[in-house]
Amino acid sequence: MSSWKRTVECGLVDAKTLKKAITLNGWVARRRDHGGLIFVDLRDRTGIMQVVFNPDFAKEAHALSQDLRSEYVISVTGTVVERSKETVNEKMPTGKWELQVTQLIILNKAKTLPFQLDESDSIDEELRLRYRYIDLRRFKMQQNLALRSMVVFAMREFFLTHGFFEIETPVLTKNTPEGAREFLVPSRLHQGSFYALPQSPQLYKQLLMAGGLERYFQIARCFRDEDLRADRQPEFTQLDIEMSFIDETDIRITVEKMFEHIFKKVFNIDIKLPFPALSYDQAFMAYGSDKPDLRYGMPIHDATSLFQNTELSFLKAVLDKGGKVGALRVQDKVFTRSELDNWVTKAQEFGAQGLLYVRFDEQGNLESPVAKFLPQNFFEQLSTVFKDFKKTDTVFFVAGNYKTAWPILGKLRCALADALKMITPNVLNLCWIVNWPLFEFDEKTQELSSAHHPFTAPQDGWEHLKPQDMKARAYDLVCNGTELGGGSIRIHDATLQKKVFELLGLTQEQTQEKFGFLIEALDYGFPPLGGIAFGIDRLLMILTGSSSIREVIAFPKTQRGYDVMMQAPTVVDKQHLKEYGIAPIVKVKD
Ligand code: AMO
Repeated sequence: MSSWKRTVECGLVDAKTLKKAITLNGWVARRRDHGGLIFVDLRDRTGIMQVVFNPDFAKEAHALSQDLRSEYVISVTGTVVERSKETVNEKMPTGKWELQVTQLIILNKAKTLPFQLDESDSIDEELRLRYRYIDLRRFKMQQNLALRSMVVFAMREFFLTHGFFEIETPVLTKNTPEGAREFLVPSRLHQGSFYALPQSPQLYKQLLMAGGLERYFQIARCFRDEDLRADRQPEFTQLDIEMSFIDETDIRITVEKMFEHIFKKVFNIDIKLPFPALSYDQAFMAYGSDKPDLRYGMPIHDATSLFQNTELSFLKAVLDKGGKVGALRVQDKVFTRSELDNWVTKAQEFGAQGLLYVRFDEQGNLESPVAKFLPQNFFEQLSTVFKDFKKTDTVFFVAGNYKTAWPILGKLRCALADALKMITPNVLNLCWIVNWPLFEFDEKTQELSSAHHPFTAPQDGWEHLKPQDMKARAYDLVCNGTELGGGSIRIHDATLQKKVFELLGLTQEQTQEKFGFLIEALDYGFPPLGGIAFGIDRLLMILTGSSSIREVIAFPKTQRGYDVMMQAPTVVDKQHLKEYGIAPIVKVKD
């Protein structure tokens, strides 16, 4: 038997291989019987090539080809010939040629698949994940993973040629406060003690700077036990960066240049630098979000002044308590009554008490459920808030506390833009969000928590401010309404770090127990430092136009954090647990 090994990949058959003898390996994508001639679409990761079994050329191979079924793994040897004019398929890169097979070797058979590869978009996702190795045979999935590999390669190339070292940090570690719950791993040798899986390599990368490494990056696996969403997985990958002797500008320039390199290298696109920057306060005021989608306009306007003397009791109540009225103007859109009712319901789903709207008829008459409470000259009044206001515009109002009403308007803005198809496809809008608050303040518990993490340096002048008003030397990079990355300049002074822990409510003992090693290190010559981390899965989700990060991860977990293929997590039997000194409080296998 001659060799079964491929000499050419299916998608790479071209004019140069014409009239040559080649061997292809791959999966049977489709088999058709055309009165004696058998046609097979043979697929490998590069594409599809049509192969033909003709009894006149190769009796044995033709006879064997009768057995072929979808997804059989085969090797075919033969000669590349031109297809007859009427059978050329212009849509296929290899559509001008076919292989006249002389030898067929069946490398493996396949049972009928649980779903057809071309149907996968409409298949239940759990089924796709249960048989992920089959799902991965689809070109879309293969393209996503290939792009991921190319992007990561470009990242590595950029950093390694800019003086960075790629350094691995431990996965069995102590918890790092990034705002989520951590995954714990019991220790057999230290019974009753647990490692935590890192939410990020944050503290290790800071300590690498203390170690004098100066420029670090890592493609780092991170673990967070948090509620999952389309852009969150319990384990995900970060591009993690840290630098010494730098300030915010250095980090931003490095990141922008890295993106410039990736886009040039992977897509041959020149992107415009620098990326624009918005302050956290500006973003919140105009878009009700710290990750605004800037692919479209429709900013939120403060329309409180229009209702200063209102007789509407619910609005009056809000304004008396110091609340505000925020407004969104949808330009040139006449909604039907039922559409307007749906938007009211939507706003309520987002947490609004109600949604007021006004629109105007052809004659310029105001139409609104509260029309009789609005002044005659409301159109003119709206013109003072919205530039070039037209009677074909519709305005939505949400009233309430600034901190709660604006995020509702922000969500409504995104939902309206989506429904009204205001988002131009294939646009990437990258923007820095800067001037973050250092802390978040919980009115109910009166407690402070870090807006980023407790190692973030405050901006100068913090000593004179209330903690709620302190600003952070932090920056996030937002793309199309998704937070791609976040980072900061870190505290490199032990006294300041202890002060921040104190403001966060940690006693000296707690600080010592949790972060003693860091406080100690800060006293041994810690350089000024800063860094950032990007979600690689999220970046790829955006670059591939996917609706979830699961589409760019080879083996993701379900929304409930379950691996349906491996069936993890699993129950561990009592004996096994005993080795770790663990006694279950829920029922487990004996
Ligand atoms: P942060 O917590 O903002 O910062 O995380 C950085 C980026 O990681 C991505 N990300 C996630 N992606 C998928 N699933 C998740 N569950 C998930 N959580 C976060 C996001 C996010 O912007 N140590 C700091 C960085 C620093 O200060 O240098 C950190 O981890 O894209």
